[in-house]
Amino acid sequence: MTSSAAEFSPNNLDALWMPFTANRQFKSNPRMLVGAKGMYYTSHDGRQILDGSAGLWCVNAGHCNDHIVAAVQAQVARLDYSTAFQIGHPAEFELAARLVATTPGDLDHVFFGNSGSEAVDTALKMAIAYQRLKGEGSRVRLIGREKGYHGVGFGGISVGGMVNNRKFFGPLLAGVDHLPSTYSHEHQAFTRGEPTWGLHLADELERIVALHDASTIAAVIVEPVSGSAGVLVPPKGYLKRLREICDKHGILLIFDEVITGFGRLGAAFGADYFDVLPDIMTTAKGLTNGTVPMSAVFARKHVYETFMDGAAEGAIELFHGYTYSGHPLACAAGLATMDVYKEEGLFERAASLAPYWEDAAHSLKGAPHVIDIRNIGLVAGIELEPRPGAPGARGYEMFTKCYEAGLLVRVTGDIVAASPPLIIEKREIDQLFETLGRILREVD
Ligand SMILES: Cc1ncc(COP(=O)(O)O)c(C=O)c1O
Repeated sequence: MTSSAAEFSPNNLDALWMPFTANRQFKSNPRMLVGAKGMYYTSHDGRQILDGSAGLWCVNAGHCNDHIVAAVQAQVARLDYSTAFQIGHPAEFELAARLVATTPGDLDHVFFGNSGSEAVDTALKMAIAYQRLKGEGSRVRLIGREKGYHGVGFGGISVGGMVNNRKFFGPLLAGVDHLPSTYSHEHQAFTRGEPTWGLHLADELERIVALHDASTIAAVIVEPVSGSAGVLVPPKGYLKRLREICDKHGILLIFDEVITGFGRLGAAFGADYFDVLPDIMTTAKGLTNGTVPMSAVFARKHVYETFMDGAAEGAIELFHGYTYSGHPLACAAGLATMDVYKEEGLFERAASLAPYWEDAAHSLKGAPHVIDIRNIGLVAGIELEPRPGAPGARGYEMFTKCYEAGLLVRVTGDIVAASPPLIIEKREIDQLFETLGRILREVD
């Protein structure tokens, strides 16, 4: 059947296939956002909705920040697009230099992409190619972790550990193994910050090395704090132990900081917060405040130099890149975002609000359905008891009722995650958790 212009309807909801959404359910009762400023969205029916999830963990400086908006507007009128292959433009070099001045240790080189998923694929490819250039071409295995989320590319879902994101898509990448999740309800429920139980789970990496032999393993990838699986904070000392084991066996350590990067924990990066330096670090989201899609993969000096030294003079060192790597609008947004983070001291602000946030989150202990509360920096996960035979149903009801009550939070299964813009005020923290408490009493 052909369609004609006369059949086009701007209000047709059918054409769009929405991501990670129950399409039929949504379309029968749509929720639309039409504007945003600071801490609030405006819904299609004119309501102000408190953004309790920084969009999707990305709008750390708040919505429609004047400085970021002006920078993107000026850039689009000056240079709208420039190829990233064999040609540069000033803003991408300026942003790269600016970023590596903020990263810890010698994470001094940065490769740009457009999304967290691309950043993860880039990092995994870098790790395997790095080992080959070092003369260790048998190191091709990648080690992820159960409950890990690393986006939706084949690389990311292979090392990731969320079953629904994996089970539909065949055998995935070969040669991948997984560390166990660091979470135990029995030993960790209602912990404030880092749990004291679970350090021994890092030693599972020794078991995996013993099973496959170090000579087959290229890299380990973990999120410093698991976000999408429901805010799983690492046990005290866990990341340091992983670092030690990786060093012992010549394995690269990749931190996926797509959520933890740019202030979420009250430090620039999770690597700073936990004082553990990975070899490669992936970021996205807060890099541009969510304004223009962009991701950045940071590589330590030894990684970058292995590529530079490993290729003949005049040869391309890494056969990888995207049409929109270092896109001018993304770079303008990134530079302006870095200005705002610095001028408004937002990472320090997150650190100073974290104790208040923690108390507010844990005030929900004892509320109906709540079986665990976890927190770190300006992130909290509130886990609800699933309805018998209907996992996720209570969480979904929580999400829709919160939205109707003027609060946007992220819900995965029966876990509510809150991660607001870092500009949040104490009264808005109160509003957020009071609304959650009220809705918890309303849902079945
Ligand atoms: C840790 C982590 N890695 C990767 C991704 C994927 O990012 P994107 O959705 O931009 O591809 C996400 C997204 O939430 C994430 O949390």
